[in-house]
Amino acid sequence: MPGHDGSEPAIEATGLVKTFGDTRALDGLDLRVPAGSVYGLLGPNGAGKTTAVRVLATLLRPDGGQARVFGHDVVHRADAVRSRVSLTGQYASVDEDLTGHENLVLLGRLLGYSKPVARERSAQLLAAFGLTDAADRQVKKYSGGMRRRVDIAASILNTPDLLFLDEPTTGLDPRSRSQVWEIIRAVVAHGTTVLLTTQYLDEADRLANRIAVVDHGRVIAEGTPGELKASIGAGMVHVRLRDPGQREDAANILAKTLDAAVEPSGDAVSLTARVTDSADDTGASVQASRALLALADAGIVVDDFSLGQPSLDEVFLALTDKPADRDLEAAS
Ligand SMILES: Nc1ncnc2c1ncn2[C@@H]1O[C@H](COP(=O)(O)OP(=O)(O)OP(=O)(O)O)[C@@H](O)[C@H]1O
Ligand SMILES: [Mg+2]
Repeated sequence: MPGHDGSEPAIEATGLVKTFGDTRALDGLDLRVPAGSVYGLLGPNGAGKTTAVRVLATLLRPDGGQARVFGHDVVHRADAVRSRVSLTGQYASVDEDLTGHENLVLLGRLLGYSKPVARERSAQLLAAFGLTDAADRQVKKYSGGMRRRVDIAASILNTPDLLFLDEPTTGLDPRSRSQVWEIIRAVVAHGTTVLLTTQYLDEADRLANRIAVVDHGRVIAEGTPGELKASIGAGMVHVRLRDPGQREDAANILAKTLDAAVEPSGDAVSLTARVTDSADDTGASVQASRALLALADAGIVVDDFSLGQPSLDEVFLALTDKPADRDLEAAS
């Protein structure tokens, strides 16, 4: 199959613009998605993720900029693009009144398979997705997880080169989510490139080779999950105090010893500080140890203390929120 040799990107978009009335849903979006990978699009509600997917899948015409999918322009060569891609939408498209098997056979027939081939392919996919027992039940009687699996099965009937998955696991329980992840991994192992939008940072962290963080219709950060985490600091110190009355003192001590911004997190006794690489070249662990000693010297009782790599959640908050707008008083 062409496009899997790593040289030609699956998607290359520059300066994409899409407006709806006064809303600039896409405001100069740039994207380069290597073939053969899972690429994550992350962003808050309304960031423009679904709009980007719809433009790249040729369902929506951009007002500006350019995009190519496997080298084909999404506007001028839409047919060529469509022959290579498949879309599982945020609000998916199987027929609720038909059974799982009937849906897949119908779609197979629409793709031009003969009846026996469509039936066989349906049976294979239902088995692969653990839906054999549910094959002859109407889709409207499926659980959310089964429903999502049949959606993905429908979108890979034709083994696309590029699969768009717009929030494939939103609303699913943890078990169904991990089943969908397994399916995504299997699809990628067969050479399909996946563009995944998600609200769940752990999902992007586990599945995506690279991630673009989208906000206000633009990419504000891009990289591997590790690169994005490293970009906001060397580590995160999390502290739980015994006495909430000592939180302000503890925050001041941490800010001084770590030379870092300290933020309250969650409950009345927790604090979080982002450790950046210091000028005197001491590592994050040395700085964290100093901070712990300083708290002890001040008579502050610490119940829990940890140093870890920033989570993608913390990256996301740091990038899409304005830390200057948040402070101890505002959040407590
Ligand atoms: N058909 C439309 N008509 C008018 N406005 C739209 C339309 N589609 C999207 N928008 C607006 O464009 C912006 C981007 O929407 P989009 O659906 O792309 O965001 P999203 O990142 O997918 O959000 P979510 O995480 O909620 O799915 C939003 O402000 C939205 O209200
Ligand atoms: Mg969306």
